[in-house]
Amino acid sequence: MKGGLVLAKISVSLSKLKLRNPTMLASGIIGISGKLLLRAAKEGAGAVVTKSIGPEPRNGYINPCLTEVFKNSYLNAMGLPNPGVKFFAEELKIAKGGKIPVIASVFGASPLEFAYVASEMEKAGADAVELNVSCPHSEIAIIGQSCELVSETVKEVKKTLKVPIFVKLNPNVTDIVEIALEAEKAGADAITAINTLRAMAIDINTYKPVLSNRIGGLSGEALRPIAVRCVYEIYEHVKIPIIAVGGILNWSHAIEHILAGATAVQIGTGLVNGFQIFQEVSKGIEKYLEEKGHRSIQEIVGIAHREGEK
Ligand SMILES: Cc1cc2nc3c(=O)[nH]c(=O)nc-3n(C[C@H](O)[C@H](O)[C@H](O)COP(=O)(O)O)c2cc1C
Repeated sequence: MKGGLVLAKISVSLSKLKLRNPTMLASGIIGISGKLLLRAAKEGAGAVVTKSIGPEPRNGYINPCLTEVFKNSYLNAMGLPNPGVKFFAEELKIAKGGKIPVIASVFGASPLEFAYVASEMEKAGADAVELNVSCPHSEIAIIGQSCELVSETVKEVKKTLKVPIFVKLNPNVTDIVEIALEAEKAGADAITAINTLRAMAIDINTYKPVLSNRIGGLSGEALRPIAVRCVYEIYEHVKIPIIAVGGILNWSHAIEHILAGATAVQIGTGLVNGFQIFQEVSKGIEKYLEEKGHRSIQEIVGIAHREGEK
């Protein structure tokens, strides 16, 4: 008890996973080493997602790969650099020391490659896998733009995996809901929304695109209204939990996503302000729930959809 109020519960469930709080480290942001994943756990994250891992080591694009376009908003085109699944299995084992769920983000060139990487990560101890079918500046983007390819990929991974499967959606589509529904129908256990939005910047002095890959993906503050809209629309149609990601730099941004329909929230660009963001967001959510008289997060998930709600 605190000040006569019952402390609001901020633990959440995502399929079989239990999270002590709804904050998660988003894929690609510092999650390339076991030690950094462990650090995020120690700093208060409810779960961590690894950098996207493929079947073989991959260098990614040459610099420049990242540029700030507005305050707290970035363009990146990394090109999915990663050490490959065999090497990364050891890093994942280190991350398990954090005693919170570790989710392996995986990708491949075909449904069979996705299934291979996912099953290697499961063997290494991943508590769930997140299928990255959505990196907007790489060849895998097209998977997340096709109902058929998303369905085939999820079904293939599902054949071999026991741990839950999350599907991370590509916002660069006309109708994100139809892709989410297809993922759910194929057996996905949760939807992660969204990956970055295709965008570019041009240097007016050199006359050239700023990023070496020319086109990149927009993340951070500028992405949030688009991500909130995607979460809101998906929530209206799918029954599996939604994990929101896009532009969360403080607790009120996380609340906005939860009201739209998210059960948990991933933080990527928000890490620019330091690891303390996990605790700040958790504490902010707890305080908000108490002030509004709610006993748990579950009471406010998707509440923005309810008619007559103030
Ligand atoms: C530098 C950078 C690298 C990223 N790498 C990955 C990745 O490997 N896999 C993935 O699924 N998403 C990746 N993302 C996308 C983020 O996980 C997230 O979906 C996106 O940045 C929106 O969230 P944010 O506004 O909190 O950053 C990356 C984003 C950034 C900025």
